Amino acid sequence: MAGYTNQAFRQICKENGAGLVCTEFVSSDGLTRSSEKTYDYLRFSDLERPISMQIFGDNPVVMAEAANLIQNEFHPDLIDINAGCSVPKVIKKNAGAALLKNPSLLEKIARAVVEAVSVPVTVKMRSGWNRQSIVAVDVAQRLEQTGIQAITIHPRTASDGFRNPADWSLIAEIKKSIKLPVIGSGDVCTPAGALRMFAETGCEAVMIGRGALGNPWIFRQVSELLDNKPPSVTDSPPARVQLCKRHLQMEIQYRGEKVAHKEMKKFYRWYLRGFGNVSEIREKLVRSSSINEACAVLEELSQIQKL
Ligand SMILES: Cc1cc2nc3c(=O)[nH]c(=O)nc-3n(C[C@H](O)[C@H](O)[C@H](O)COP(=O)(O)O)c2cc1C
Repeated sequence: MAGYTNQAFRQICKENGAGLVCTEFVSSDGLTRSSEKTYDYLRFSDLERPISMQIFGDNPVVMAEAANLIQNEFHPDLIDINAGCSVPKVIKKNAGAALLKNPSLLEKIARAVVEAVSVPVTVKMRSGWNRQSIVAVDVAQRLEQTGIQAITIHPRTASDGFRNPADWSLIAEIKKSIKLPVIGSGDVCTPAGALRMFAETGCEAVMIGRGALGNPWIFRQVSELLDNKPPSVTDSPPARVQLCKRHLQMEIQYRGEKVAHKEMKKFYRWYLRGFGNVSEIREKLVRSSSINEACAVLEELSQIQKL
């Protein structure tokens, strides 16, 4: 998830049972122009392995070059091609979900990337460009011939954005029409939801995005539920406050106080979501003007007996 799955958050997810994490997506153009900022997105530690790196772009040659560069410089376990992003800055470049309007180009990109690297290549896509062009089954069948190793499907169209529920029946349809492993994505925000996706779609793996924000324990909760084990972790309010404090410290360690302070503001609401009686403190945290102020508010929160 662009803007969220940075090093600190990925590490926290791994510690809490995530099987595979992915970096924030990076532009193939940015990579081949050696932009320092783009490189920053890709730094990781071995604690985060296995790790996937996602690239976007619309040019098979540049995408292949970017994938090769990533493989040689960063050594990820997988490289993922983005065919699902619907934000204007990506669509304008005919990349992300715009590739679903041009499946032949997506196919060429997939072939070029597969040829350029020795690590497994995967593709993540949406259902189609809009409701009038749901192309995911056809595209999945075409991609299966390119040498990629798995497909992730987030079954909403680009024009849906995040409106309307994800259509899990499309995950099941894709699963039936190809032999590659299928990873389902969309609206899994509880452990029971993950089990329901496995059962309803037959997918090999479930990808959890927003459901991990504020509750990175969800990965362990899913595994335990799958194994019929009693839950070993709690996502209680005090546990969330403690983890939020640690997350802040990790951000400081990786990116320095200034960036950490800004970055964490996105996460606070998620960690403190559902706390009934602390709206004032939550606002204080979100509006805090320095890292010291944020730490003090978090300390204040952790002293409250009944959250
Ligand atoms: C803030 C945000 C950023 C995202 N960034 C990416 C991205 O860079 N690449 C990608 O393939 N999907 C991205 N997604 C989509 C998610 O991977 C996922 O498919 C979608 O959110 C549905 O899953 P969820 O309901 O578990 O969040 C993003 C989603 C969110 C909310």
